[in-house]
Amino acid sequence: MPELQSPTQSAVLPNQAALSYSIDDWKRGYESQPGEFDYWIDDVDGEIPAALTGTLFRNGPGLLEIGGQPFAHPFDGDGYICKITFQDGHAHFRSRYVKTEGYLAEQKAQKILYRGVFGTEKAGGFLANIFDLKLKNIANTHIMPWGEKLWALWEAAEPHQLDPETLDTLGLDLLDGILKPGDAFAAHPRIDPGAVTKTNPKGDRRLVNFAAKPGLSTAITIYEFDESGALANTNTVTVPGFAFLHDFALTPNYAIFFQNPVQFNPFPFLLGMRSAGQCLKFDPKQPTRAIAIPRDPKGEVKTFETNPCFVFHHANAFEQNGKLVVDSVCYESFPSVDPDMDFLDIDFDTIPAGELWRYELDLESGGVDSKIIEKRCVEFPVVHPDYVGQSQRYGYIAATHNATGNAPLQGVLKVDWETGDRQLHSFAPRGFGSEPIFVPRPDGTAEDDGWVLVLSYNAAGHRSELAILDARDLNSAPIATLKLKHHVPYGLHGSFTNTVYGEQA
Ligand code: CO
Repeated sequence: MPELQSPTQSAVLPNQAALSYSIDDWKRGYESQPGEFDYWIDDVDGEIPAALTGTLFRNGPGLLEIGGQPFAHPFDGDGYICKITFQDGHAHFRSRYVKTEGYLAEQKAQKILYRGVFGTEKAGGFLANIFDLKLKNIANTHIMPWGEKLWALWEAAEPHQLDPETLDTLGLDLLDGILKPGDAFAAHPRIDPGAVTKTNPKGDRRLVNFAAKPGLSTAITIYEFDESGALANTNTVTVPGFAFLHDFALTPNYAIFFQNPVQFNPFPFLLGMRSAGQCLKFDPKQPTRAIAIPRDPKGEVKTFETNPCFVFHHANAFEQNGKLVVDSVCYESFPSVDPDMDFLDIDFDTIPAGELWRYELDLESGGVDSKIIEKRCVEFPVVHPDYVGQSQRYGYIAATHNATGNAPLQGVLKVDWETGDRQLHSFAPRGFGSEPIFVPRPDGTAEDDGWVLVLSYNAAGHRSELAILDARDLNSAPIATLKLKHHVPYGLHGSFTNTVYGEQA
């Protein structure tokens, strides 16, 4: 006779660690935040480092419904910008919606007027959505300052330009005529710290971004801007097949894209039956193709084939011994979007988990070696900004609390590629993390001498918090935890600049 188990024992199955979170806590982090705020952050545990000077910008969907009608997917939510300014041990918070044409129109109408890429349909079903290709430029994916400008980015349309101090929306930015109205500009710029190459003989810092025009073949344009914001270099190539490109990796000589084996069937979208995101289908019989586009327009495009996988984000890439080494978060298939499902009813056990992989692309032979670096479910990888395009030892990545299984991202993991060591800072059980941002200490020399900034949602109190972690020792308690007066819905990407935009302490 088996012994009777107490309730606490029976809750833990033999091969399954206890859940590190409650699903109801996780869901509350997706409540809309209609408020826009301005205040000095006075509720702080610990002390804000006096040497931490600059501005943290973050972007993500802030409104998840309009007039009681929910968006089908958070990626369809309006861009909500948060700014935290640090100076002399003080921090100021400001948040504003990007006042896109769609945001203003829908706020006025108090109903959904546009179709979302990820499944949000206007009311009225098939007839209201048929042949309606008008997508809302929701400006919700990334936010980055460059030159005199601050851009809120969304990959399927033009950037919105914001005032970096007030966060007022200044309008669409066509980049001095580089873009035509309606052109796309990706949401994943990379900043080249300044490697000297043929196309960058002085080794200037550059912002590099791309635009993709998908179709039966896909035209990819690389744009490089110097520190004044002027276009310094560009290259356009056309690659065969449909390509869904969200991010890329940058080395001194190449921009590297992963062409995931997805097929796009446009007809249900055109007919109004499905959103564009729902028309993507993963094909596990096709390889994933890595495409290395030379930054020098006279160079040669190199393509490589590897096992089928789906990649949204790359951690970094570098050139070594005739190879391109690329570190990326891979899913075994595309987490497809079910048209009849509410994203809040997600079953984490049934969707693929992100894993960190290293790919070595041999420029001479065209061969590919790949190996798994981290099996824990991870997303949103970053490295020290001076190591973009260079061989990095350390990376920081949002991660699950438990070492196995898929779950919400509740912590940040430090990866050491040299020793294989790991450090984890977890916000479990009631906290949920987001993309970490690494800020180097101003006079630091070691690669991990700096701070990791993570905005997390704390279900206890339904508020968000910014943790300032010591990057050399992520396991220890935060140096400071800045408690906001409200919650910020789970965000996507952000950036840090040493420039102080706004309030002086
Ligand atoms: Co992204």
